[in-house]
Amino acid sequence: MAQSEHWYRPEKMAELERDGVGVWGAYRDFEAKGDGSQLQRYAIIDDAYARLYAANLGGLLRQRLNADLAGTILDAGSGIGTISEALRATGQSGIRVVGMDMSEAGVRVAAQRYPACEFRAGSVDKLDSFAAATFDVIHAREFYPFSRSPDAAFHLGFLKAFRPKLKPRGLVLGVQIVDKAGLADSWRDLGPLSRDAGYEAFGRIAMAPQRLHKRFDDAVYGPVYPLVAAAGHALEALKPGRVTYVYWWRARA
Ligand SMILES: C[S@@+](CC[C@H](N)C(=O)[O-])C[C@H]1O[C@@H](n2cnc3c(N)ncnc32)[C@H](O)[C@@H]1O
Repeated sequence: MAQSEHWYRPEKMAELERDGVGVWGAYRDFEAKGDGSQLQRYAIIDDAYARLYAANLGGLLRQRLNADLAGTILDAGSGIGTISEALRATGQSGIRVVGMDMSEAGVRVAAQRYPACEFRAGSVDKLDSFAAATFDVIHAREFYPFSRSPDAAFHLGFLKAFRPKLKPRGLVLGVQIVDKAGLADSWRDLGPLSRDAGYEAFGRIAMAPQRLHKRFDDAVYGPVYPLVAAAGHALEALKPGRVTYVYWWRARA
């Protein structure tokens, strides 16, 4: 991918999307040929894996954040919708999931593959078409603005755009590994800033490995969780990039 400075900004990404560069070319190839070999480098396209992920995330929400996969969820940076659909299928009955992505091709594929979700093309910092207080959860997994930039002010811009569209006590979830730059660099600075932007609490939670959640279910986030988290932090220190972290913000009631 041609990575000019600040390529992760929405206006730059719109150009890359138009030119079919990197992930945006992979979405087009997937749409044209059904070939996911490139796309799987950038996004989850395996339904079974996505279900494990969604079940794990649901457990984390229930046990650590007193929340659930329920109500109306925005999947920010939804790609071809594999995770959007897994969140819907794993969540409580009556759940509504809206996926939104910069990739027009990705959104077309998503709408065709997962008709039980809704999909929209565009940048998620422009949510004008949604009514105020629409979302219970805004979920953003490996969302480039959060995962490729260390800039707290840039991240705060998204939190501010999300805030009016969240219900009272609604959650923003940024889910990602610690990479070269991203929320790992900004979230401590972002905490106090996000309070001024209408969030009452924030934090970071290490996600249990998928296979551990599959085996022990939500118990991994119960009384044994401090051990699971300590093992995760130790593994991350030894082998960076192995642990998935959930960065979260809760809107004020
Ligand atoms: C690495 S992919 C991750 C896809 C999916 N969330 C997953 O975890 O498999 C990042 C996605 O974020 C999308 N994206 C980046 N910035 C965006 C923005 N401002 N608005 C909407 N989508 C965006 C990209 O188009 C891309 O599809």
